[in-house]
Order: sequence, then structure tokens, then C-alpha cells
Amino acid sequence: MIRPRRLRSTPQMRRLVAETRLHAADLVLPLFVKEGLTEPKPLGSMPGIVQHTEESLAEAVAQAAAAGVGGVMLFGIPEHRDATGSQADAPDGILNRAIRIARDAARDAAAGTGRPGPVVMADLCLDEFTDHGHCGVLTAGPDGDLVVDNDATLVRYASMALTQAEAGAEVVAPSGMMDGQVAVIRETLDDAGHTGVSILAYSAKYASAFYGPFREAVDSTLQGDRRTYQMDSANFREGLREADLDLAEGADMVMVKPAGSYLDVLAAVAERSDVPVAAYQVSGEYAMIEAAAANGWIDRRGAVLESVLGIKRAGADIILTYWALEIAEWIR
Ligand code: PBG
Repeated sequence: MIRPRRLRSTPQMRRLVAETRLHAADLVLPLFVKEGLTEPKPLGSMPGIVQHTEESLAEAVAQAAAAGVGGVMLFGIPEHRDATGSQADAPDGILNRAIRIARDAARDAAAGTGRPGPVVMADLCLDEFTDHGHCGVLTAGPDGDLVVDNDATLVRYASMALTQAEAGAEVVAPSGMMDGQVAVIRETLDDAGHTGVSILAYSAKYASAFYGPFREAVDSTLQGDRRTYQMDSANFREGLREADLDLAEGADMVMVKPAGSYLDVLAAVAERSDVPVAAYQVSGEYAMIEAAAANGWIDRRGAVLESVLGIKRAGADIILTYWALEIAEWIR
């Protein structure tokens, strides 16, 4: 008889034949930094995650380095918001300050341990910086309603990319789903001599209910929704088209987001991409498992590892997850 169970018979055998393995270097830890905060502030909808002060950000980056985490993705929460998100490209705006702090902390950690620190990545989007909470600037649409102006937003993204590169970001990650954003950012960076700064494109980013807790994490003021620029969750083929466009525009890495409900898109993008593919396990995916575990309804560690392993198995080379630090410590 053919007996597949032989290869499952002992922990040693199962370890030997495992087809997919998590590694700390594959994981990216998202970090929130809030301007004017004096103490790290825990998030009610994301137990274990905080809004950082500038000081606690440096400590978090050092911890990520010690655990061998591959990267950190920075989000800034400014004190002042306005229609165009002017703090986003202010050289001393909170996100740009955070980039400098994270670079220094990563460099110090690397010097101290002789091992590479995490790659410093910055979210490149306007939603944390605008008073209306949209990912771009608004203009009057045909019916007098306000719509996000794609091409005016590209000008803002180009400026953000420059200040992020000047602050020391190694990777900029445009997440606003504006058409042409990768091309404009690449051209702007190259023209300014920042040819070494990589672009991680949020390529197939869906309008998702799973971003709910993130709204608390960045004190979001969103009016309306993002369905005129983020993708419809019904669409698979369109996700591939978005990824292809970003590859053609020069993305160094492409991303699918959220991860868990879009594993089909992730697998197909991984199949056709000739650059590394990332997946973002978003705030709502985190909150669901944490909530079920807190109620004793699910085994926390088992569910966390299974959810992330599933994303890796589907084809992600890089996984953004709020559990990055904890997983890195578990698998060390
Ligand atoms: C946009 C951005 C969002 C997330 C990452 N980048 C919010 C959105 O598009 O609505 C969500 C991440 C998460 O939910 O964990 N700056």
C-alpha cells in the first residue's frame, strides 16, 4: 500500500519534509509613530500593538533587529492635517523624522551585533496626512461632488518620495492606488539621484473591511470610502493587470493586500512576477485572531503560524504582519 502517513509519523520527519518554512528575514513589521505622543499608546482594536513615540520607535526597531526581522514599514500620524496633506512631505514631518530615527536605530543595531538590521520602508500615501482622510487630493467632480484627483495626487506622491528618500528610506511603498504612481515616483527618484531607493508597490490593493482597526491605529478621519481607487474584492483579473502595470513602471517588488482573503490573487501574481512578491496581513486579519484567542475560541499561536504559513505557501516572498516580532522570536 502507498502510505503518505509515513512522512507524518514523527516531529523530526515532519520537520524534514516541510515544504514551506517561515524565516524571520521574510517578515516585515509595520510600526505606527505619532507626533506629540509622550507615552506609547496601546490600540484597543489591536491588542499588543501601540502607537509609538519617537523614543519607543527606536526601541522597537532595535528589538526587530535583535529578532532578525527583515524589515520595518513606517506609518506616521501627524498632529496637523490639511486638505493636501502638507505634513507628508515636510522634511521634518513625523513620518520623515521616523525614517531618520529608524535608519539610525537599524544602523546602530547592525553595528552592535554584526548582523544586518531591518530594511527601513516607508508607507507613501496621503491618508494619514489629509483632513478628509483620502489617499489623495480632492477636486470637484462632474456632479459637484468631491473626487480624488489622480494626477494632482501624483505630484504630491513624487514630492513625498523625494523627502522620504532624503530622510533615508531604503524602500518607499506607494499604497494609494493612483494610476501611474510607480512610474512618477521612479522618475522623480532617478532624476534626483536616488537611484538606489527601491519601490515596493502596493499593486493589488483591495477596498477591504479588514482595514478597520488600522483606522484606529492612524486616528483616521476618512469621510466616505476608498472604492473609487482601491480595487473591488470581486476582481481577480484586474489584480493581475495592476501588478503587470507596476512591474512595467519599474516596481522593484509588488504586493497583494490584504493577504488572507486574496490568496488566489497572491498565488497568480507570484506565478507571473519576476520580482519579489509581498503580502500584507492587515489589521483586521490580526484583530480577528487576537479576538478569538482572547475568548479562548482558538489556539493563538497555532492560528497565527498557520495564517502566516498559508500566505507564504501561496507564494509570498515577503510578509508584512503585526506578529513579525513575535513570530521571529518563536521560530528562532
Ligand atoms: C494607506 C494604508 C492603509 C493600510 C496600509 N496602508 C489603509 C487603507 O488603505 O485604508 C491598511 C493596513 C492595515 O489595515 O493593517 N496608507
